[in-house]
Amino acid sequence: MEKYKVVVCDHIHEAGLEMLQNDPQIDYVFAADVDKTALLDVIADADVAITRSSTDVDDKFIGAAKQMKAIVRAGVGVDNVDIDGCSKEGIIVMNVPTANTIAAVELTMAHMLSCMRMFPYSHDHLKNQRIWKREKWYGYELKGKKLGIIGFGNIGSRVGVRCKAFEMDVVAYDPYIPASKATDLGVKYTDSFDEILGCDIITIHTPKNSETIDIIGADEIAKMKDGVVLVNCARGGLYNEEALYDGLKSGKIRFAGIDVFKKEPATDHPLLDLDNIVVSPHLGANTFESQYNIGTQAAQQAIEAAKGIAFPNA
Ligand code: MLT
Repeated sequence: MEKYKVVVCDHIHEAGLEMLQNDPQIDYVFAADVDKTALLDVIADADVAITRSSTDVDDKFIGAAKQMKAIVRAGVGVDNVDIDGCSKEGIIVMNVPTANTIAAVELTMAHMLSCMRMFPYSHDHLKNQRIWKREKWYGYELKGKKLGIIGFGNIGSRVGVRCKAFEMDVVAYDPYIPASKATDLGVKYTDSFDEILGCDIITIHTPKNSETIDIIGADEIAKMKDGVVLVNCARGGLYNEEALYDGLKSGKIRFAGIDVFKKEPATDHPLLDLDNIVVSPHLGANTFESQYNIGTQAAQQAIEAAKGIAFPNA
């Protein structure tokens, strides 16, 4: 019986690991906690690797993966995978595009609501400082606010639907979708980026690539309303971090909800010094439901790719 080696480079759900373990043709190695040099040794004779945000598939990785047929990115974003480099070496790159959609959508809502009501701050005041000061915590309502969504794919469109339920006025900007995708959901479609910049709240749900890095910078922030709220649960660097910092510091941006950073982990980032920001450590995919979906789908794709049966979501 032919055997295939699958290396799991990052933490995935136990159910995915069990699928790999239970397949008699798969030898799987769990290498999530090994250092980079050791990982390069482990992948040298692997047929497939499963990776997440913590493993960059760069030239060193690709150079070491001498026998690799495919990489499964356990999640949606492939910005930390050198796809051209993989293609040159004949390595097929797959992702798991919809498994964590709802987790990212709901985290976006949590950030948006937290920004409007400063919820983590009032929580900290009462719970950790034992201060009961109701008059300190006046927030804003989502109802009636104009929301600009940049990127209206799986995640952005679902954020739009939820924000309609909050009685917001929702506008979508996405040059890659037909306008009807938005209008069918009761969302206004615009091809004017300036219209998005004029919204009360802006959230972004695009992949990270050369078109979207720094899509919001100092010039765009200057065009925004005073007191705008910005949310980013997609990728660090879509909002230029220096411009975001300056905008928050000056009060031009009233509040920001940020789940992702240009360089992660980000434990010593200037944005963390501000007190008009809500942050989380890249939790867009971190629900038990999503992790189950991602882990099992990634394992299934890895097994099929290792055996050469199929390469879904390539
Ligand atoms: C994604 O791209 O889906 C997520 O960022 C995956 C992750 O949490 O690593």
